[in-house]
Amino acid sequence: MYFLLFADVLSTGVCYGLLGDDLPPPEEVIALYNSKNIPSMRLYNPNQGALQALNGSGIQLIVGVPNEQLQSFATDQNVVVEWVQTNVISHYPAVNFRYIAVGNEVIPGDLAPFVLPAMANLQGALIVAGLENQIKVSTAVAVGVLGVSYPPSSGEFSSASLPFLAQISQFLSATGAPLLVNTYPYFAYAGDPTNIPLDYALFTASGPVVADGPFQYQNLFDAMVDAIYSALEKLGENTIVVVVSESGWPSAGGVGATVENAATYNSNLLKHVGQGTPKRPAAIEAYLFAMFNEGQKQAGIERNWGLFYPNKIHPSDVVAVETDVIKKKQKLKPLPAVEGKLKH
Ligand SMILES: *[C@@H]1O[C@H](CO)[C@@H](O)[C@H](O)[C@H]1NC(C)=O
Repeated sequence: MYFLLFADVLSTGVCYGLLGDDLPPPEEVIALYNSKNIPSMRLYNPNQGALQALNGSGIQLIVGVPNEQLQSFATDQNVVVEWVQTNVISHYPAVNFRYIAVGNEVIPGDLAPFVLPAMANLQGALIVAGLENQIKVSTAVAVGVLGVSYPPSSGEFSSASLPFLAQISQFLSATGAPLLVNTYPYFAYAGDPTNIPLDYALFTASGPVVADGPFQYQNLFDAMVDAIYSALEKLGENTIVVVVSESGWPSAGGVGATVENAATYNSNLLKHVGQGTPKRPAAIEAYLFAMFNEGQKQAGIERNWGLFYPNKIHPSDVVAVETDVIKKKQKLKPLPAVEGKLKH
């Protein structure tokens, strides 16, 4: 039996993906979050059943604007205003919204040009609603936005991503919003298992593995997050906070994908995030991917990221983890107020 200690890592959440036909109903899922004392959730779209079930739960929420809507968000303010009315205002403050993630992993790519205009339109609608200090607008990127990631101090955005992220980072610093980064040491390991030590990916290395100027890296997760910070610094952005909007390890279906490695990674990540990275030694807000195995995803590793099997009631169906009893629930740090003018 493994234990995930959400108790000590109150800035930590779990992504609630809904691509399974055997998932429990939202009310049971929210009850499971509460019984495990998971303080935050990432939801990929404004699923009305989930939003209803979140009413009064106190769970802090990242909700997504799906990629399919980016173009209409960028070009039609009426669409955005209606979306905010239906999915945010009508659930506010019963639902504790924290961030809205405008698009997931679309930079670089065909949808990338729509991200900033969509974010700006959404920000405008939140300002009209008086919610811009309560809810921050961001986008979720993959670590693949980096052209250089090693060593971490050399981190820089790729030439394909840079034009978008240069402008988006100005928006984020002006609004006090974080950059959301899906951070997967697993994929780096699985792509090169002969050169990337498993213990470096699983937070189990016994000493530093990478030395980089004044910093020593004992785990790949920190190296990836700090490479993003280096890339932001090269844009002159020193104040944007990275929120890890997904991280996890699959329990089946790929290289190194075992229940034991998933349990090791997930519990070590939770233990680790409170101390931050060598460059930014402050608690990291991070979201484990994901709550359940999702049977409607592509066969193979994609289906096997869950902390829980869909039938979450049976103890033997817990994939990798059981959570500890929590003493008390705490809130995340308050969000910074909007400062300065938006430039875009
Ligand atoms: C949330 O729950 C309360 C109490 O049951 C109810 O009065 C309120 O209408 C609900 N809000 C929404 C948005 O469903």
